[in-house]
Amino acid sequence: MIETGEFDFENRIVSPQVIKEDGDDADYSLRPKTLSEYIGQDKVKENMKIYIEAAKKRGEALDHVLLYGPPGLGKTTLSNIIAHELGVNIRVTSGPAIEKTGDLAALLTGLQPGDVLFIDEIHRLSRAIEEILYPALEDFTIDLMIGNGPAARSIRIDLPKFTLIGATTRSGQLSAPLRDRFGIIQRLELYSAEDLAEIISRSAIILGVAIDRDAACEMASRSRGTPRIANRFLKRVRDYAEVMGDGRITRDIAKIALDRMEVDNLGLDSLDKRMLEMIIKGYNGGPVGLETLASAIGEEAVTLEDVCEPFLMQLGFLARTPRGRCATELAYRHLGIPHEGSDGQTSLI
Ligand code: ADE
Repeated sequence: MIETGEFDFENRIVSPQVIKEDGDDADYSLRPKTLSEYIGQDKVKENMKIYIEAAKKRGEALDHVLLYGPPGLGKTTLSNIIAHELGVNIRVTSGPAIEKTGDLAALLTGLQPGDVLFIDEIHRLSRAIEEILYPALEDFTIDLMIGNGPAARSIRIDLPKFTLIGATTRSGQLSAPLRDRFGIIQRLELYSAEDLAEIISRSAIILGVAIDRDAACEMASRSRGTPRIANRFLKRVRDYAEVMGDGRITRDIAKIALDRMEVDNLGLDSLDKRMLEMIIKGYNGGPVGLETLASAIGEEAVTLEDVCEPFLMQLGFLARTPRGRCATELAYRHLGIPHEGSDGQTSLI
């Protein structure tokens, strides 16, 4: 029997989104402020360093930037860093927050030359807003309608040259005309365990917590390639270290804390396991369509797609085929479920 319904999906300890436990300021103080403090994403960093330096040398606004990749990898952090390195202001908003054309016009006309406008979840902009954005991005002008009916007229407003940074978890959902207007497109990758261990050690210094190297590695290897999760683990494991020990985070304390949080040795939690178990036990290993799978476990398809799948695919536990999702042999092995191979032989591998 695969359980559904009792789990607090919104506040999973391994959620890459900001959750209640992160506190109001989330991990703000832990966020790097400069490119040199930013760990990992080396290719993106190297590229951005060049583009920023070139734009500064020419005294021009940086070309528009699209950052895409799974949630929790630091797209907002990187955007703040880009603005900081350019020495300009940043205005932060999100696709769903821009409801009316006037909202966008107010944001754009409030910018200073060279400023950054950051739009998170840019794939959720409405088509009407996108239409206004095109000339703003290309010619730095907007056409606004004033008044109604026969008296309505259009006025053109010149904007300062600015940089749009758009962030999205799903670049495929961006319309082609919008995507084409970004001169710089960068994909953020899930972080390696080494980079995450370094991020955890850096954050521990900022929080004033002593941590053993092997403890940082233990936590890193369960953080699903995601700094937001790594920093959340650090704060929770610190609680265990303070209550159960002398405050120092050792490997033993980290293991106990993470086991109690029901995060397994690879970073899977009960939602990941339910998803895999449903494919294996409910659909004979797949293929099963995403929507069918989502309703079978009582979760939204986008959560499975954005949050569980990138990580399960990176681990090689899940395959996406044109006919649906399939659990791999590795997934059977990790869950300890016997796997029937193509030769009809059942094995625990
Ligand atoms: N905290 C969160 N993400 C980070 C990163 N990429 N580098 C350093 N500290 C971080």
